[in-house]
Amino acid sequence: MNRINDNFSPPTGRLLQLGQNLALLLAIFTLLLFTACSSDADPAADNILDPLYGTDAEGARYVGADRCLSCHENPGKVTNTDPAATYLASRHATPGTIGADADQQCLACHDPIGDGLNLGPWFTDHQQPPAGMTAVGCEACHGAGTLHWLNFPEHPNPTPDYQACGQCHQALPAGHSAYAGQGSFTGYYADDILDTYRGSAHAGQVNKIGALCQRCHSDEGFRAYAGQTVGMDGEELTEFLPGAGAIADPSPIQCRTCHDGHTGELRASPTVVQKDGKEITKYSRLFNLCTACHQVFLKAEYSAAEQVFVYYLDTEKIPFHGALDDAGLPVPSAWVIWDTHFATKDGARGGWPVNPASENACMGCHDPHAASKPVW
Ligand code: HEC
Ligand code: HEC
Ligand code: HEC
Ligand code: HEC
Ligand code: HEC
Ligand code: HEC
Ligand code: HEC
Ligand code: HEC
Repeated sequence: MNRINDNFSPPTGRLLQLGQNLALLLAIFTLLLFTACSSDADPAADNILDPLYGTDAEGARYVGADRCLSCHENPGKVTNTDPAATYLASRHATPGTIGADADQQCLACHDPIGDGLNLGPWFTDHQQPPAGMTAVGCEACHGAGTLHWLNFPEHPNPTPDYQACGQCHQALPAGHSAYAGQGSFTGYYADDILDTYRGSAHAGQVNKIGALCQRCHSDEGFRAYAGQTVGMDGEELTEFLPGAGAIADPSPIQCRTCHDGHTGELRASPTVVQKDGKEITKYSRLFNLCTACHQVFLKAEYSAAEQVFVYYLDTEKIPFHGALDDAGLPVPSAWVIWDTHFATKDGARGGWPVNPASENACMGCHDPHAASKPVW
């Protein structure tokens, strides 16, 4: 069951809509009767109707993130408690941002269901606003919890897509503090993310042909195969992937492809090495994320004097869409960046000033959500 995925509508707010869906209530009572006699009784379902947080557009009730956590934090109830832990550590559950008594206009994005308050006990070691904390609860992304109980263990929206994120990551109110800029890239790309993404090359076609193409041309393919194939060049990829099955109904590259759905962090780690007893970043997270698909292979020489790496193109490893000409140089193509962005060691081919160690490696010139060539 996946009724929310394609037409997920914004939560309808905190108003009780009693009597609006008698059939659903009946179904819940039936479920309660059923679970009462079952040996596998679900304790969280006992008080599922109290308190109510309102319903979604289709009448399904929200139950509150504290109820989700009652199982998802409990190793006796679920096999994997990581989603709960990473959610609790994320910006979506920040106790200090705004209080539960903030304007409705603000709560529409900062706590649309009104269940943030109940997460207070999870954050007793943090300073909380006097009126209680706000949070983007589980159901703001995963859909209303009663759907989960009525169809246990199925979930309405197991992998929320860009439309779920876009309910809030769209045009921010004028003067909103998040896009102050302040000389770094923090907050710089925070406004209008949904529309920017929708207009991007990443939101375009999805490849249905096979695992090899889906590895870079789809969300599911990237999340399934990138971890096992990172660092492989075109030849190695072609050898490794055809055996793996194609994903039946792949989606375009989107929010959850680049960001972990719970931490919000980029799905890549930096490459850090020890030099002269110090940790030096050789490749940043951002660089490793983008070049996992926009392949480019570099050689790096360490300059002890300046404590940085100096990079040049490795022409022994050829990207999937790349090719070498007779002189051993990248053939210019519209499909790869290794022919334009990086210089060869002898300077026979020049490049752009890209610093692979920088957290902003590509962002100085490209908006990651627009995925377009820079306009200057
Ligand atoms: C009664 C216990 C219980 C409660 C309460 C509960 N869940 Fe679950 N949920 C499970 C179990 C068991 C699984 C199976 C995965 C596992 O064991 O790790 C699961 C799986 C999931 C999945 C993955 C589904 C998939 O198809 O991969 C999501 C998403 C999820 N739960 C969200 C929620 C949300 C949101 C809430 C609150 C509205 C919630 N759960 C409340 C027990 C529960
Ligand atoms: C359209 C959705 C939306 C609305 C409406 C909204 N916010 Fe936000 N707010 C966000 C998002 C998204 C972020 C995180 C942005 C980022 O840092 O990338 C955020 C972050 C914040 C932060 C932390 C930013 C920082 O600089 O640390 C504060 C404080 C805040 N909002 C206050 C408010 C207040 C007050 C209102 C009501 C006037 C409001 N917001 C309305 C979406 C919204
Ligand atoms: C900001 C949106 C968002 C919120 C809030 C959120 N999730 Fe998720 N969740 C996702 C996305 C996106 C995925 C799928 C991609 C992934 O695994 O990162 C996911 C995946 C999951 C999974 C399956 C993970 C797996 O490894 O199979 C579970 C279980 C889950 N969420 C439970 C929860 C629970 C419980 C909460 C609240 C405590 C919660 N989520 C809050 C977006 C969210
Ligand atoms: C109900 C509204 C809502 C939804 C849905 C939502 N977010 Fe957020 N998101 C916010 C708010 C509000 C903040 C800032 C919270 C704060 O600072 O207190 C935020 C913060 C973030 C941040 C941290 C930004 C920073 O500057 O560090 C990331 C990344 C993010 N969200 C990604 C996502 C993704 C990916 C999804 C979908 C899987 C999603 N969000 C769904 C409202 C939402
Ligand atoms: C191609 C990869 C990619 C995709 C797709 C993507 N993002 Fe991002 N996003 C990034 C990168 C890179 C940053 C820069 C910040 C960082 O280093 O964490 C970022 C930053 C953000 C921020 C913080 C903005 C700021 O400057 O404070 C939010 C919020 C966010 N993304 C949400 C989303 C949402 C919502 C979607 C889907 C509509 C999305 N992203 C799709 C790569 C991506
Ligand atoms: C290692 C990652 C990777 C693999 C594997 C891959 N591609 Fe691509 N492909 C890309 C990237 C990145 C671009 C976009 C490059 C650009 O526009 O700068 C691209 C662009 C394209 C384009 C041109 C843009 C478009 O969508 O019209 C086509 C066609 C294409 N790929 C087809 C395929 C096919 C077919 C396969 C499987 C046989 C495949 N690719 C495998 C990364 C990959
Ligand atoms: C999951 C693989 C993947 C990741 C990760 C990824 N891209 Fe892409 N990107 C693609 C593919 C595939 C295309 C071509 C889409 C099409 O045209 O069909 C593309 C297109 C682009 C384009 C448009 C190129 C053109 O020729 O106009 C830019 C710019 C771009 N990506 C930048 C980035 C940046 C910056 C990052 C990192 C924040 C990134 N991409 C991360 C796969 C990816
Ligand atoms: C110093 C600025 C700069 C930086 C940094 C930069 N780019 Fe570019 N990028 C450009 C310019 C300029 C173009 C347009 C080149 C053209 O039209 O031939 C471009 C084009 C592209 C294209 C389209 C394909 C092509 O070669 O024309 C992709 C994809 C791309 N960049 C991805 C990236 C990624 C990924 C990073 C980070 C590793 C990055 N860029 C860093 C300036 C930059």
